Amino acid sequence: MPSLIELQNYTWRYLHTDEPALKEVNLTIEEGSFVGIIGPNGAGKTTLAYSINGLIPGQYRGIKKGTVHVAGREVEAYASGSLQRTVGMVFSDPEAQFTAMTVEDELVFGMENLGMTIAEIRERLEWVTELTGLRSLLEKPPYEISGGQKQRVALAAVLAMTPDVMILDEPTSMLDPLSRQQVFDVLGRLKQEQENTVIVIEHNLEHLVPLSDRMILLYEGQVLLEAETRAFFREMDLLLDKYILPPGVMHFFFELLHTGVYAGTLPLTIEEAAEKLAQLFKERAAALQEQRHE
Ligand SMILES: Nc1ncnc2c1ncn2[C@@H]1O[C@H](COP(=O)(O)OP(=O)(O)O)[C@@H](O)[C@H]1O
Ligand SMILES: [Mg+2]
Repeated sequence: MPSLIELQNYTWRYLHTDEPALKEVNLTIEEGSFVGIIGPNGAGKTTLAYSINGLIPGQYRGIKKGTVHVAGREVEAYASGSLQRTVGMVFSDPEAQFTAMTVEDELVFGMENLGMTIAEIRERLEWVTELTGLRSLLEKPPYEISGGQKQRVALAAVLAMTPDVMILDEPTSMLDPLSRQQVFDVLGRLKQEQENTVIVIEHNLEHLVPLSDRMILLYEGQVLLEAETRAFFREMDLLLDKYILPPGVMHFFFELLHTGVYAGTLPLTIEEAAEKLAQLFKERAAALQEQRHE
């Protein structure tokens, strides 16, 4: 797979600040991958997102060193506003993005702006409405629906425009647990159906981890850890040291690894953990049987 996003020795310092928000970042993100980005507040996660979709250096002033390439071109080489078509963004507060009087218009608006044909718009509208479960809300004003529904509208509106990359910056930080689950359900479906590259910045690891192919830990403007998801959590001591709380099942299996009762890979979900435990018990029982027969 070619690298869709590539940062080389990238440093960004906002104007009138003493410390760079991102320091000497080297990172590649492959096309079609689902990447989770974590790290404490102020780590530079949003700055990284803006650096990929061109808001930095386009809309912000500061000092840049190194390069950021998206789809083979440096971000500065894209005409003003055109990179945002390749890299769609969803924020914590979706309302800020809404402009239309109905959910349907909200979804159609961006597609019309891109000059898509009516047939294309219809087909695309049908697909995102289904994917995000918004059918019954199409006629409603976007400001009259719940927070979770708003977030799904924001997601659908961006998806409708078929960006190559979607970046979601803490998309569920303002949502209750059910709405959070629903947003991640949509992302799960998206992962199965589409080949989009998806980057999700999120504190809630229970939902993020099962979907992520790779994980990145940002800390004080630097990439402290970047790896395939299971390998990432093998660095448990580093993560705990930085107050990153892994999903309970992963932490539990990491402790099992330490005590030596378990030697396999870390499970990503509760279901996987249950299977692994059942297998472990089976093997133990078989070993005991054998001992008895000796
Ligand atoms: N517009 C801005 N001007 C000056 N400093 C900023 C601006 N935005 C963010 N920063 C600083 O950059 C650092 C990284 O911030 P940010 O990327 O928002 O982190 P995160 O998203 O991980 O919480 C922080 O120290 C923050 O104060
Ligand atoms: Mg942020």
